[in-house]
Amino acid sequence: MEQEHTGSSLERQRGGLIDREHLTPGQIVEQLDKYIIGQKEAKKSVAIALRNRLRRQHVSDDLRDEIMPNNIIMIGPTGVGKTEIARRLAKLARAPFVKVEASKFTEVGYVGRDVESMIRDLVEQAVGMVRSEKSEEVREKAALHVEERLLDILLPPVGKSDASDLEESGEEEGMEISTIGTEEKGLERELNRKSRQKMLERLRNGRMEDRQIEIEISSEGQGGMMQILGPLGQMEELGGIMQDLMSGMPKKRKKRRLTIAEARKLLEQEEVQKLIDMDAVVKEALRKVEESGIVFIDEIDKIATPTTGAGGKGPDVSREGVQRDLLPIVEGSNVSTKYGVVKTDHVLFIASGAFHVAKPSDLIPELQGRFPIRVELKSLTEEDFYLILTQPRNALIKQYQALLLTEGVELGFTDEAIREIARMAAKVNESVENIGARRLHTILTNLLEELMFGIPEQITDSRVEIDAGQVRDKLGQVAADRDLSQYIL
Ligand SMILES: Nc1ncnc2c1ncn2[C@@H]1O[C@H](COP(=O)(O)OP(=O)(O)OP(=O)(O)O)[C@@H](O)[C@H]1O
Ligand SMILES: [Mg+2]
Repeated sequence: MEQEHTGSSLERQRGGLIDREHLTPGQIVEQLDKYIIGQKEAKKSVAIALRNRLRRQHVSDDLRDEIMPNNIIMIGPTGVGKTEIARRLAKLARAPFVKVEASKFTEVGYVGRDVESMIRDLVEQAVGMVRSEKSEEVREKAALHVEERLLDILLPPVGKSDASDLEESGEEEGMEISTIGTEEKGLERELNRKSRQKMLERLRNGRMEDRQIEIEISSEGQGGMMQILGPLGQMEELGGIMQDLMSGMPKKRKKRRLTIAEARKLLEQEEVQKLIDMDAVVKEALRKVEESGIVFIDEIDKIATPTTGAGGKGPDVSREGVQRDLLPIVEGSNVSTKYGVVKTDHVLFIASGAFHVAKPSDLIPELQGRFPIRVELKSLTEEDFYLILTQPRNALIKQYQALLLTEGVELGFTDEAIREIARMAAKVNESVENIGARRLHTILTNLLEELMFGIPEQITDSRVEIDAGQVRDKLGQVAADRDLSQYIL
């Protein structure tokens, strides 16, 4: 996971470290500002919601259940940062996060894939997250174990192996083996120890990486069969149970001939696996989901049924059904997963939708009540585009610059060029279709296509600068022509 480094006042107060589980609303907004331009209201709402969840957990038992969770509906056109805000929020808080499209639960193909699956996915995500955190913690130790195992293969320790093994590898490494008397055992052991030490140094120097060895590893690929059962909801559970059963069975081990470099990787996975306490991982993952999980429900407007206007055809059973299915989960219920039961009481739900046709008031009242916070995201302006191109940590221009730098090419844009790109994005959004900041992607890919293709062969400059004139030459005509831009930009 990425590390945040800034010299902001809030972070300095804490000695440069931010306490991710206890972020204050101010800190949350400050962090979100690094990636998302504008949308102040939405940032504030999610910040408050996140903090309130923490606050709610500390309220005395009797009152706690009375306090409503701060679930949010984000309303706004496409491409203005709804998903981005939720995703960044989760990353910031190191919270388990899943994104689901509400409309997919109404699709025919998803019969049987019940709404609870979003919680199961969340748990799956949390388990993966905790497992990789724990793996990181034991990586060094695992690497030591791997060295030991490699060493045992290359040069078995005296006493552990039989003489023939020893002879084989000993010969190769120029070790002298003679008929050994009991009194020479000590000497031999000493010799072996020294040779192993030398071998270890060679291993660490990376001088042996290409050498072939034979290792025995537990065979993988048990998951393959389960995937076939995957797509159906209930089967998913069944798959889980079967997988649990299978993991209890003795693992098949098979021999493989590999280079040391390859063996190192495989052995490391195996050693990490051995060092991690999966029970503890699961326990922590479940706790994380219950206390800090975030579910992002996209396109919630697609399961609302507009009752007014021409589109109103009375309640749509399937959509309303999905809303009813959502209720208990959002309200707080126990969901069983293959890792155990999860209480969803404190899971934060952030719903999002454009709400062009349906309005939040077209959701069933019970569900409206579960999403008490409404926040509107604004359409992005030309000025916003200028900032989005340049300010965020992951700004598009920075991404392209980083890409080209790997080829030794420095890519520069004049300020006026960036203004021109922003102007065009705004213009095309207005004339063709407003797809928000996504327009910047299409414009930049077009603008930089030749450069991306030409480097490194045709274009050999070490510095390329794009100015406003070039932007206009390349894109001006397309942007001005509505029909053309429909297809190209
Ligand atoms: N306010 C913003 N600041 C910075 N980048 C933004 C902003 N809004 C959108 N983007 C960029 O545009 C892309 C699309 O944004 P996002 O996925 O958040 O759209 P959305 O609002 O969820 O749209 P949709 O309703 O289509 O799901 C992202 O890659 C994001 O980086
Ligand atoms: Mg989205």
